[in-house]
Amino acid sequence: MAKALTPAAMALTHAAAFTQSRPWSEGEFTSLLDSPLTFVSGDERCFALVRVVVDEAELLTIASHPDHQRQGLARAVMLKWQSQAAQLGAVTAFLEVATDNNPARHLYAGCGFSTCGNRPGYYTRQNSSPVDAVLMRQALPTGK
Ligand SMILES: CC(C)(COP(=O)(O)OP(=O)(O)OC[C@H]1O[C@@H](n2cnc3c(N)ncnc32)[C@H](O)[C@@H]1OP(=O)(O)O)[C@@H](O)C(=O)NCCC(=O)NCCS
Repeated sequence: MAKALTPAAMALTHAAAFTQSRPWSEGEFTSLLDSPLTFVSGDERCFALVRVVVDEAELLTIASHPDHQRQGLARAVMLKWQSQAAQLGAVTAFLEVATDNNPARHLYAGCGFSTCGNRPGYYTRQNSSPVDAVLMRQALPTGK
């Protein structure tokens, strides 16, 4: 049984999942969730943090704990947050992903997102050169 999703639990899962970039702290999750524009989907095994501004939803982060990866949890969370965002009035969903993040790129493409832009050198790496960000979008059908 997964435990309640507190900012502390989110930070633990995020730190376990993000090995190539700086994980977000409990304090950062607390302040992000203080905003009325953000919501979280999932549980401590896998969660997504999303911001909805007027009719646009942005995936801020998604993380599956390594103990629970490749079990379909992220795909389920992707479907869930898009449904929640649509219910909040979003008609388009956006996200960005590092070009070298193949698991996430496969996940997003499989969930229907398509490339809409590029940010050169957007992500820093600890032991290598910065990598580009790919911007992706998807329309959210009304009532999805
Ligand atoms: C990306 C991530 C969230 C996927 O979580 P997950 O729970 O393992 O994903 P799922 O089991 O739901 O997989 C769904 C699909 O994603 C793709 N995928 C997931 N992990 C993959 C991997 N290691 N290699 C290639 N494709 C992968 C596959 O298409 C998979 O479908 P399939 O299992 O039928 O082949 C997880 O690897 C993670 O937390 N990574 C570190 C954090 C991160 O990079 N977040 C995204 C930042 S933009």
